Amino acid sequence: LRVAVLVSGGGTNLQAILDAVKVGTIDNTEVVGVISNNKNAYALIRAQKAGIEAHCVSPKDFEERGEFNTALMDTIDALCPDLIVLAGFLVVIPSELIRKYENRIINIHPSLIPSFCGKGYYGLKVHEAALARGVKVTGATVHFVDEGTDTGPILLQKAVEVRTGDTPEVLQRRVMEEAEWRILPEAIHLIANGKVAVKDGQVMIQK
Ligand code: GRF
Repeated sequence: LRVAVLVSGGGTNLQAILDAVKVGTIDNTEVVGVISNNKNAYALIRAQKAGIEAHCVSPKDFEERGEFNTALMDTIDALCPDLIVLAGFLVVIPSELIRKYENRIINIHPSLIPSFCGKGYYGLKVHEAALARGVKVTGATVHFVDEGTDTGPILLQKAVEVRTGDTPEVLQRRVMEEAEWRILPEAIHLIANGKVAVKDGQVMIQK
């Protein structure tokens, strides 16, 4: 499976994918490229260290959003990916890309969708909202990307306990370590082995 990973920040989810490919917990898979909208993303350094083609395509480099969208799509198409993985990617995906790669784009979100998701819920804000609501359990979700924000068919979820005295940073770290870095590689492994199908907005997994 040819996988392109889109990133915006530290790239710890990218690193989890690279490590899983290396040790074989993800088989039949090659990360063929990493694309970031942020030239300072440490994720780009992680890609370079792993010898993987890395590109920065930033909306700031284009007059019009449409030009950025075209540049992003051309960069992705040139990698000929079978699967696009959004790993902390904070830019809205062009709907033309979603149509072209229908059910071939997955995203990791740091909550149990449909809680604490949608516009404005990204990064620490997700965990601040979970703590403010006083939930006892949160977690992470891998879902297929559709035209909405965090609204596509759910593929995998993993629950994480919230502990007394958790700060947003501490909770974010636990959700990453115990959930994100496990279910994102697992999702790619399942797809790479043909175990996943989407039907009527529901995801079927052959275990
Ligand atoms: C984190 O907030 C993570 O929960 C979410 O994306 C952000 C960046 O993660 N999935 P990463 O370290 O760049 O993978």
